[in-house]
Amino acid sequence: MNASGRDPETIVVRNTGPLSGTVEVPGAKNSVLKLMATTLLTDGVFELTNVPDIVDVSIMGDLLEAIGLQISRPEPGALLVVNEGDLTPIAPYELVERIRASVNVLGPLLTRCGHVRLSLPGGDDFGSRPIDMHVAGLEAMGATFKFSHGYLEAFADRLHGADITFDFPSVGATENLLTAAVFADGTTRIDNAAREPEIIDLCEFLVAMGAQIDGVGTSTLVVEGVERGSLHAVDHHTVPDRIQAATYIAAVAVAGGALDVVGARAEHMAMVLERFGDMGLDITARAGSLHVAAPERLRSIDVATLPYPGIATDYKPLIITMLSVADGVGIVTENLYPGRFRYVEELQRLGADVRTSGHHAVVRGVPRLSGAPVRAHDIRAGAAMVVAGLAAEGETVIAGVSHIDRGYDDLVGRLQGVGAAIERHR
Ligand code: EPU
Repeated sequence: MNASGRDPETIVVRNTGPLSGTVEVPGAKNSVLKLMATTLLTDGVFELTNVPDIVDVSIMGDLLEAIGLQISRPEPGALLVVNEGDLTPIAPYELVERIRASVNVLGPLLTRCGHVRLSLPGGDDFGSRPIDMHVAGLEAMGATFKFSHGYLEAFADRLHGADITFDFPSVGATENLLTAAVFADGTTRIDNAAREPEIIDLCEFLVAMGAQIDGVGTSTLVVEGVERGSLHAVDHHTVPDRIQAATYIAAVAVAGGALDVVGARAEHMAMVLERFGDMGLDITARAGSLHVAAPERLRSIDVATLPYPGIATDYKPLIITMLSVADGVGIVTENLYPGRFRYVEELQRLGADVRTSGHHAVVRGVPRLSGAPVRAHDIRAGAAMVVAGLAAEGETVIAGVSHIDRGYDDLVGRLQGVGAAIERHR
């Protein structure tokens, strides 16, 4: 960032024509951040692999170091966490406000230390993101909360099991209740739990550590509490990032050509791959990769975002970008974050014909976009701007690169590797 608070770096993209070659998908941001927070539960040395080199991992590392863990990156893709048990269960504002996933320290710290002081997480550019379901679930397990001066404090000598039914399958609330339930007295049953691949990854990590969880991968998770001393540190390979995989698919979809997306797991992307097929992409699942070939021109489709196994809201900026150069009209309905359309104004600057009303966007495809300066307002919107630049005549200059760095491991280098004309300017 410079003195004006704006980050001076830009990404410059030009329409290059067809992409070809192989691109490797790193581990999932939205898994590894939770795995890192979960290492608070027990002493020992954890080695996480397939860890993306992204800013959010560094911020989570800073937060965990402030709490008392030691974090290092022994080699690219690996992250070592040493937990010696000397924990200060306080998550300060300066770190919490930078990363939503910091709220994931709540469950592990409360169940392990009996007390947590956590700055209330702020919103995102796409809207407010409350934590009422996290709090209500932990209260049902015996925790008490105090809110003052922008902090919440949670207390529980020992949590007890409870039957909790979510009215919405919140990813973060499922994760916090799961980790809290590991040491609770008795059985915790979470109904209408989130079941994203990243939640399964977390469950597998916890089970390897010695937690007792039934129903992994379903919307009913049953956790039998164990004694505090019975968990142990483990090594774990992070699940691949399905949103980054979709980003490279969207890139080849608008630029043309064919790519092998290595590491992408078709079974984690079933619904979105089906819809990409409806748009005309030819996608073949091979051992450990997806082969994706672009059609001459994409076809428009209608899409609605939903919790997993539905189409994730994080795919939506990519899908709207694809629709903006597709043949026909597509209607996109957002069911998770009503305000998550801010990047549409940026796409309009590139010549996209998109109109929004409430939860809906109507996208009328045009043959080509036209390059212009644009701004990334959040991680996924930033990636969508890069994809849009590949479909735009002339030069697209993207500001707000720090948002992209929060969640994308070398997006520029990976796209250069498959033939895109893209550069980072400092
Ligand atoms: N919600 C509540 N109350 C709660 C919890 C959630 O009202 O107590 C609402 C939220 O405000 C939102 C909806 O429920 O409207 C979804 O929230 P959820 O808890 O499922 O999401 P999250 O855990 O805050 C994670 C990802 C997001 C992703 C969503 C949905 C992380 C760090 N973040 O957020 O990813 O969009 O799930 O899939 O895992 C991103 O990576 O760019 C990103 C925003």
